[in-house]
Amino acid sequence: MSSFPAPPPFDLTAVSTALGPLASAFSLRWLETCASTNAELMTHTPADDGQVHVLIAGAQTAGRGRRGRQWQSWPGHSLTFSALWRFDPGVPAPAGLSLVVGLALAITLEKLGVHGVQLKWPNDVLVHGRKLAGILIELLPGRGPTPAAVIGIGINLQLPPDVSIPEQAGVTDLAAELGTPPRQETMLAAVLGELHKLLDTYAAAGFDALRGAWQQRNAFAGLPVRISGEGKDITGICLGADEDGALLIRTDHEVSRILSGEVSLRPVT
Ligand code: BTN
Repeated sequence: MSSFPAPPPFDLTAVSTALGPLASAFSLRWLETCASTNAELMTHTPADDGQVHVLIAGAQTAGRGRRGRQWQSWPGHSLTFSALWRFDPGVPAPAGLSLVVGLALAITLEKLGVHGVQLKWPNDVLVHGRKLAGILIELLPGRGPTPAAVIGIGINLQLPPDVSIPEQAGVTDLAAELGTPPRQETMLAAVLGELHKLLDTYAAAGFDALRGAWQQRNAFAGLPVRISGEGKDITGICLGADEDGALLIRTDHEVSRILSGEVSLRPVT
């Protein structure tokens, strides 16, 4: 699977050091290999001890992508992790959550010096139109008014030179965007810090408080798009995200709210 030499062991202490005072908010665990960090946290959910539990995998044998797809990664050259985030009772249902997570990743990348970061609804992170990171959010069942979510993130640090990923067409990596990719540990700490900040805002004020920042990075703002994968395709102009995270599309007759589906650019005919 990998044309790279075996990576060095993951340094959890380096992540805590980089997190600084925020380190106590997180419980970090690394597995050399597992099927999927999302699946692992969904089936063996840690008890609520007030910390955010983060599981990092050196390698995943069955990485999950959105809409039943696979997620491919390379040991030491991709960052793959999931975080179990619990929300206080009474916070809004996590409708805009996946957009907020995408925004946190985008801001992290910008702070690292990556140019041309954009977001494709609901949460693909693109750089110059190519996918650099993917997010898969799964809600834990039976949590009643206290929603809990497993937030899974895969980031391409440095893909093998001969990479061909049919289900992840049009990809890029941080090596291509920055010259040298950051260490996994540095990247993880930066993402967790940004997630912590934005999810605090989201819990207190909902997606609407972050909507403007998301809209600024909307890859398809004002462009003709097609929404597929949910019955009949819908075409129209992408207006951006609604106050709860739904996608707004202006069709011939109305403005439609899209809650799920795959967005692609529609060639002008
Ligand atoms: C997508 O864009 O389709 C979402 C990809 C999400 C991949 C990450 S890697 C860590 C976590 N564990 C998984 O099995 N999937 C997510």
